[in-house]
Amino acid sequence: MSTVKKIYACTSCGARQSKWVGKCPACNEWNTIHEEIVVKESPREERQKIVRGQKREDPKPTPLAHIKSGDIQRLITPDDELNRVLGGGIVPGALVLIGGQPGIGKSTLMLQIALGVKARVLYVSGEESEEQIKMRADRVGTQQSDCFILTETNTNKILTHAQHLVPDMIVIDSIQTLAAPHIDATPGSISQVRECAGELQRFAKETNIPIFIIGHITKDGSIAGPKLLEHIVDTVLQFEGDQNYTYRILRTLKNRFGSTDEIGIYAMTSTGLQGVSNPSELLLSQTEELLSGSAICAMIEGMRPMLIETQALVSKAVYGTPQRSATGFDLRRLGMLLAVLEKRCGFAFGQNDVFLNIAGGIRVEDPAIDLAIISALISSLEDVSIPKDTCFAGEVGLSGEIRAVNRVEQRIHEAARLGFKEIFVSKYNFKNLNSDKYGIRVRTIGKVEDLYYGLFK
Ligand code: TYD
Ligand code: MG
Repeated sequence: MSTVKKIYACTSCGARQSKWVGKCPACNEWNTIHEEIVVKESPREERQKIVRGQKREDPKPTPLAHIKSGDIQRLITPDDELNRVLGGGIVPGALVLIGGQPGIGKSTLMLQIALGVKARVLYVSGEESEEQIKMRADRVGTQQSDCFILTETNTNKILTHAQHLVPDMIVIDSIQTLAAPHIDATPGSISQVRECAGELQRFAKETNIPIFIIGHITKDGSIAGPKLLEHIVDTVLQFEGDQNYTYRILRTLKNRFGSTDEIGIYAMTSTGLQGVSNPSELLLSQTEELLSGSAICAMIEGMRPMLIETQALVSKAVYGTPQRSATGFDLRRLGMLLAVLEKRCGFAFGQNDVFLNIAGGIRVEDPAIDLAIISALISSLEDVSIPKDTCFAGEVGLSGEIRAVNRVEQRIHEAARLGFKEIFVSKYNFKNLNSDKYGIRVRTIGKVEDLYYGLFK
């Protein structure tokens, strides 16, 4: 027999309260506590399950030395970007969460994998009809006969179908549409998401079938539903990019079976997503003209070096308060760089509007982009252009020092490979520099002032 129980749970952090409160005591968010009805299994039901053989035996402590390491056979997908991001293919029994804003291409990516992988796949969609999925499959081209489509939202039914079909991989689109019938809450609510994710996890671990779960993202960029979801799954991937641009980046936020340093880069085309193997050549502007306010950064995203263009526009403020706007870069960090330039070099940005843009709509987290950004800012303010074959890699500190960045050699090699003639880096990156071996002129600087004199004087 089941007893119905009410709880109050926070939609932001998943903390449970015994009564309703306006502010969650655990995460301090306002208005996130909602009433939920949960069904608690009585101990008798659990016992019956064991008798029926549905429950596995309780694990016993085992010496580590007695556990076989086994040869894990990863499932290799036809998509090199995804394989790399996952740490070399799909691990059996892994639960992978893929989050992203609506329309970014999550369903397209997963359908492409489902159609391309040489294995039996069950693609469960609670969002689209079979015909709509078929249309999309026709569009992305790759066709594979061993892919099954199921439009169902009831977790029990999905898992029953999966047990009969025995696929090599399952895709769930999306966790927010699933509902476990024994829970009296709407799909997408915190208790449904938690329960369904828990059931999928148990299924994946017991059957060793990997499951990909698509999850929606809230406005502030976190995966909708409790934080708990991210703890349950083995891998959290985030698909991001600007919808107005074609580029998409697949990042790993958590990975139990590989590093979180890898990223995948895709271009959204009219026939689905295409992996981009050399992003630099696409992220540099195609104009021949020399324009002021543009500087190129030799950055590293994940493990890959690439060159990317930063553009700044500094113009006299027309309205009272000068505007600051940045696309693909942290606005507060832009404020800090402007303050450093003002204090250390005496540039007056205070009366100017400043706009900053990173090419391709890509969000850059590599601090080495600082040096390119201040170069672009000075270039726009002074209206002098920077040669097209010059690039930058360095972090700027609060006192105007240019700090060393990681893997500088890799950056220099990539710049040289793409035909750049000159690269500015921190002098703290090198003890004694032998510039000849790179085939590019490496210029080392220690302070922001040095950059100004080295570049524009
Ligand atoms: P979709 O995978 O539905 O996004 P999500 O599941 O993350 O919400 O992607 C939808 C967008 O992708 C839509 O705006 C159209 C675009 N698209 C293409 O440009 N080319 C294609 O081949 C496909 C299938 C979609
Ligand atoms: Mg979708």
